[in-house]
Amino acid sequence: MPVSAESAIGSREALLQVYRQVRRQTEDICGPLTIEDHCVQPIEDVSPPKWHLGHVTWFFEQVILAQFQRGYEVYHPLFFYLFNSYYLSFGERWNRPLRGALSRPTVNEVNEYRHAIDERFERFINEVNEKDWPAVRGLTILGLNHEQQHQELLVTDIKHILATSPLNPVYRERTGEVPRGCVPEQFVGFEGGLVEIGANGSGFSYDNEQPRHKTYLSDFKLANRLVTCGEFLEFMHDGGYDDPNLWLSDGWDWKTAEQCSRPWYWHDEDGKWKIMTLSGLRDLDPDEPVSHISYYEAYAYARWRGKRLPTEIEWEVAALRSEGTPAAGNFLEDMLLHPRPTGPKTADTPEILQLLGDVWEWTASAYLLYPGYIRQPGALGEYNGKFMNNQMVLRGGSCVTPRSHLRLTYRNFFQPEKRWQFSGFRLAEDP
Ligand SMILES: [Fe+2]
Repeated sequence: MPVSAESAIGSREALLQVYRQVRRQTEDICGPLTIEDHCVQPIEDVSPPKWHLGHVTWFFEQVILAQFQRGYEVYHPLFFYLFNSYYLSFGERWNRPLRGALSRPTVNEVNEYRHAIDERFERFINEVNEKDWPAVRGLTILGLNHEQQHQELLVTDIKHILATSPLNPVYRERTGEVPRGCVPEQFVGFEGGLVEIGANGSGFSYDNEQPRHKTYLSDFKLANRLVTCGEFLEFMHDGGYDDPNLWLSDGWDWKTAEQCSRPWYWHDEDGKWKIMTLSGLRDLDPDEPVSHISYYEAYAYARWRGKRLPTEIEWEVAALRSEGTPAAGNFLEDMLLHPRPTGPKTADTPEILQLLGDVWEWTASAYLLYPGYIRQPGALGEYNGKFMNNQMVLRGGSCVTPRSHLRLTYRNFFQPEKRWQFSGFRLAEDP
């Protein structure tokens, strides 16, 4: 049963079944890792897998068990401090850039913590009184969605950890067929007018997707697929990284300071482009979607092409009208762990491709509250609401997003310079 099917998770046993499945998936992700892989933090954005394993468990202990179980005794007096991420409502926490400095607790001790909380949690769910059950059920579904978010972060952090080593280690060998070639880029017209976007409350959604609301939209055109590596290479060969007229001022300063001249994980080996993937170092496939680029690079490319990035409203309206579902996309469960080319055009090729899965798509929209948004009091208001400044919205999920975690209304958000997620883009234009 998918985590997003909130209304179907009515009984305690149904909830526990989903709980066990999500918790197992997290441990499966860590299956191929060595103890050493679990512990390092090559950059501040990346957390050691050991920390993720503890933090998602912390959520169930501090947010649910400690609040609702009478006389609850904490598992360890310092684990709330070590594994709290950014919830000021819960007090002091360990410094984020130093998560990789902790050799203790050990990986085994963190896994023991996980299993102990799982046992406590299962017992608690079976015993919780009827008065508390609706709140506990709601927070558990939130905790499971939170753990799925961290499953994606785990994989992207593992990629960065492994790619930091010159040995280019393989996380999982690639299996299965990958399409070759891609459809020609075309721009599909959409009629504007008064539209509705946002979550309608029929299943789980985060507060930042709510409320569903009306907004006015002009007619627009959206590219039928993502921008590819081959196309981005043309931008590079044309001096795109060296032309200040293409860049936002902040983007130019960032690019200059970072000495950035290519997407992350690209390597120039004697004039031949290679790309580091979760399956090791491979030849660059010009037909696959470009990934691990910043908002600034996406913006500069769009300007070079005389186009623009879509707004998040345009993206959502196009997704709704295209009747896209996560079923067809390339997600974590497909285990490709890399964006996939569209393959050649056939009689069955849909008009719009790659909206869901493959890469998160940068939009031209700042991450702001929707009209009528209510930030919840206390810790829950810290989950999404307090980040609504200086970040841009990304849509559609990536090849390492759990499939059942994604919705057409889902709003991801990152600062414009971030590149360690699977972030790409498609173009838009005015008619
Ligand atoms: Fe978290």
